[in-house]
Amino acid sequence: PAPHHRTERLDQDHDGIRRAARLLQQGGLVAFGTETVYGLGGLATSQRTVKHIFQAKGRPSFNPLISHFASAEAAFAEADMAIPLHDMARRLARRFWPGPLTLILPRHAESRLCQAVTAGLDTLAVRVPRGRAVEDLLRLTGQPIAAPSANRSGRVSPSTARHVLDELEGRIDAVLDTGPCPVGLESTVLDLTGPHPILRRPGGVTLEELQEVCGPITVAEHDGTDDLRPTAPGQLTSHYAPSLPVRLDATHVHPHEAFLTFGGREVQGAAPALTLDLSPGGSVEEAARRLFASLRQLDQAAARHGLTAIAVAPLPAEGLGRALKDRLKRAAAPRPTDPASPPA
Ligand code: TXA
Ligand code: MG
Repeated sequence: PAPHHRTERLDQDHDGIRRAARLLQQGGLVAFGTETVYGLGGLATSQRTVKHIFQAKGRPSFNPLISHFASAEAAFAEADMAIPLHDMARRLARRFWPGPLTLILPRHAESRLCQAVTAGLDTLAVRVPRGRAVEDLLRLTGQPIAAPSANRSGRVSPSTARHVLDELEGRIDAVLDTGPCPVGLESTVLDLTGPHPILRRPGGVTLEELQEVCGPITVAEHDGTDDLRPTAPGQLTSHYAPSLPVRLDATHVHPHEAFLTFGGREVQGAAPALTLDLSPGGSVEEAARRLFASLRQLDQAAARHGLTAIAVAPLPAEGLGRALKDRLKRAAAPRPTDPASPPA
């Protein structure tokens, strides 16, 4: 897309969804809300459109995208389902789709998805998202839609249409305003290409829920050093990052630090420059829903309050807490421009 054209703001009524579907069918870029975060959508079958997605985000082209479908049937049609875990894939789809789960599967030899969407890999990432508007949009468009989170590469994912416009105004054709995202963190990415399932990214479906269907699951570890040259996709480290540096598991704050807390936890010693509680009542679901907006809010308050960093309280490690901690760990990882980070 031309770098300076107008971004239409569409309401999630019949006309808005129809307009969004039309723009997508014509090869345009349309952001829309899913249950997790807003996605930056374009036809997954069009190499030209997918290249535009990478350009609009400033995303390195080796990092593949998730393709979104209206049904499990449509998703599995692009994959080679003659795999050891095919039964597991179908059980997972029945239990969690539409919903915040992405499956990595081998690519079918005759898949219509373009090469750019999978970054040339022989595997693909597929999901059926949940939400009235996005489900209608996918049905109406009738095509697989590639959609990374609708933020500039490396930044915090958007959970409202406003967040999308703050970063992508003029770089995309339209945003379908579907309201704030009910989950607030990205989908769980589960790799089913091998003999056993591997959790590649914790997200909206918890490990505990997956284990009810899959039995034991291996959790892929991020070593924190593979920033710009990941050995495997999905392992970029510094990511989901606000402008302010982030410090984890803080029990006290340094001067000029904001304190991002949970369940009313307080710091010892000096009072923080600013305190924000992700969930005063201690609900990890509420904390997940509010995390990305809170990081943006702290960035915006930085100048006014003279903030130099965000200190984050210890958080629960189970359930959605796993995804919450993963995002914060990446927000706290060395930034590509840090002198301390490895050379690109
Ligand atoms: O909730 C979500 O998943 C959102 C909404 C819009 O659906 N999308 C999203 O997309 O988070 P993105 O592009 O920001 O993250 C996709 C993740 C990346 O970590 C990518 O490396 C991984 O999925 N991925 C995509 N294809 C893959 C593949 N073939 N093998 C392994 N990982 C893959
Ligand atoms: Mg993303």
